[in-house]
Amino acid sequence: MVLAPAPMRYRARVSSTREAALPAIIARALARPGPCLFLTGAGISAESGVPTFRGKEGYWVVGSRHYHPEELATRAAFGRMPAAIWRWYLHRLRVCRGAQPNLAHQAIAGLAHALGDRFLLITQNVDGLHPRAGTPRERTYEVHGNIAWMRCSRGCEGLALVPEELLASDAAERLESADRAGGAPPPLLGCARCAAWMRPHVLWFDEHYDEASFRFDSSLRAVDSAALLVVVGTTGTTNLPLQIGERAVRRGVPTLVINPEPNAFSALVQGQPETAFLQGTAGHWVPRVVALVRDAGAGVAVNPESNLKLASGVPDIAGWLAAGLKLGLGTDGAASNNDLDMFDTMRTTAMLHMLIDDDPRSMPAQTVLEMATIGGARSLGLGDRLGSLEPGKLADVIVVRMDTARQTPLYNPVSHLVYVTRGDDVRTSIINGKVIMRDRQVLTLDAAKVIADANAMAACKNH
Ligand code: APR
Repeated sequence: MVLAPAPMRYRARVSSTREAALPAIIARALARPGPCLFLTGAGISAESGVPTFRGKEGYWVVGSRHYHPEELATRAAFGRMPAAIWRWYLHRLRVCRGAQPNLAHQAIAGLAHALGDRFLLITQNVDGLHPRAGTPRERTYEVHGNIAWMRCSRGCEGLALVPEELLASDAAERLESADRAGGAPPPLLGCARCAAWMRPHVLWFDEHYDEASFRFDSSLRAVDSAALLVVVGTTGTTNLPLQIGERAVRRGVPTLVINPEPNAFSALVQGQPETAFLQGTAGHWVPRVVALVRDAGAGVAVNPESNLKLASGVPDIAGWLAAGLKLGLGTDGAASNNDLDMFDTMRTTAMLHMLIDDDPRSMPAQTVLEMATIGGARSLGLGDRLGSLEPGKLADVIVVRMDTARQTPLYNPVSHLVYVTRGDDVRTSIINGKVIMRDRQVLTLDAAKVIADANAMAACKNH
């Protein structure tokens, strides 16, 4: 992934200890259930060339008067001069159309596809750059609306796209005469049902959030169940976004704040556990955070016997488990762990780590058995279908003999499975309900022929 360099003005700042802690914060967060929630504001589109709301570029002139955006983006101003307000919004819409999604929008869109229903975006931006980058609409709450759309100012149901004809530069100028004429909207801006003015589909400063248009309740509910909140490029001066941040911190949701400047959100996370203020631009931090979230979503296959045979080091299993990584146990291939015996692998894993950690309690048999079963399923993203015997999961079962002399006496079955059992103690194997081996007879293959073929192939290779 190519990372845009941060402009010098906004050099990325976060203490190196905190940066080193980021992967673990994110891994622990993603080990929790619930969605990974992004909350974005105008700052994320700044690097696409869309002016931020409270930046210096926001003023607008109507007649001889200079207006601040907070005065124009109101129902009251629209009531007084609908055409002038439309002219301002059409200008903004043209700016947004001319802008392209940047690396931060793209990284978030990629993550949305990777995480599926574990992803949700709440954006204050009306510029439409998130959907244009590919973030699915059903996982995007545009809590301040979208200026590409309009709706009836009297409340008739339904949204319509702002007509293309209005984006021609002279069309917007011509609108001005409608204010002077003081009344009926021009044909393109009249409601098809009641003929009242259509208005931009945005939330104005003198209006309230609601669920139907702006997903107010859904947004707050999403925070309650979130595994991680990432706040990007917003001052926190509007109601819902700040409520989201406060609620997340109050409920202990791990929270990362990305902004070149400290503000209300960075103050919220200061000194809180499992949080970080990542000072810098969205283009610098968002791709990095997204890469870490993707890595945290991935599973790790630990192959200690292969590592031993190839002298390739010992993984920090206890540390990785504590950090919330999803670990499964594997044998690796025949070239580096010849007998492919998962029971052997469990035994080696337990004993190796007790030795390395200098602690006979550091790797309990139960932990190792879980890594070999449900841990493996989770690391493949299949934990809800495989890995444990539960109603609704696939029927993957082995029957292990425990009455041989070697297995006697039996005190603890879990400890026995890890320290005593061998592959050839397995009597019966059932995969997805189908019996593959019964009482050591393989039912789906001709075992004698497979052995003969293997020998023949090995002989060929040796000549
Ligand atoms: N990367 C990340 N953040 C940036 C960048 C950047 N490159 N450039 C600027 N910022 C930050 C600024 O530091 C500031 O905190 O973006 C924020 C922009 O602030 P605002 O313009 O206030 O935008 P926002 O917080 O999204 O509020 C705008 O308020 O008036 C309402 O409805 C309106 O949705 C709009 C909202």
